[in-house]
Amino acid sequence: MVKIASSVLAADFIDLGDEIISVGTSDYLHFDVMDGTFVPNISFGIPVLRSVRKATKLTLDVHLMIDKPSRFIRKFAEAGADIITFHVEAEPPDNIENTIESIHKLGKKAGLSISPNTPAKAVLPYIESLDLVLVMTVEPGYGGQRFIRKMLPKISLLRGIIEGRGIDCELEVDGGINVRTAKLCINAGANVLVAGVDIFGATDRAAQIAKLRGV
Ligand code: DX5
Ligand code: ZN
Repeated sequence: MVKIASSVLAADFIDLGDEIISVGTSDYLHFDVMDGTFVPNISFGIPVLRSVRKATKLTLDVHLMIDKPSRFIRKFAEAGADIITFHVEAEPPDNIENTIESIHKLGKKAGLSISPNTPAKAVLPYIESLDLVLVMTVEPGYGGQRFIRKMLPKISLLRGIIEGRGIDCELEVDGGINVRTAKLCINAGANVLVAGVDIFGATDRAAQIAKLRGV
């Protein structure tokens, strides 16, 4: 079954509590952290995550778009993250395995993300220890961008490797997901779809979530 992760970035922050309740039929709540260095934008961080944690029982899927994420793993874990995903481009290669391990030691699931210009092979050395691989289908940094179709072969390639090696690892896509691009990603092998504008822009969010799932 395909999982839907509603991206808080597209919510109306003045009514954050109600906004979170409105997407309660999602599987995950996706929480984008941006630092203005790894990506050219700043979003929200630890104190907001702490409040969000109190407002929902949904799995909190934290997507760190920050430089040297290993510095902040413990803080995000303590603030209530369930899954902590960081970018392979943001951490020195010799510290990636350690960072995954420290997420696991804190009792959380570990994800590794790749930006559009990073090939699938960048995650392969770590894939056996990952709970999730996140393929960015837009350049990280902003919501509401156009889906990059060229990412579809990357998704298929990773699905083939996950199945071929029999690894228990989710394959998530993020950026420009709507009913049309969701289908393309599911066909390519993604099983978790992040959507921001498409869900929060809908008046009936539960209906939109069901449509994205394909039910
Ligand atoms: C972009 C973020 C996404 C963003 C997706 O850098 O990682 O999670 O919220 O937004 P939409 O679904 O609106 O493209
Ligand atoms: Zn994201």
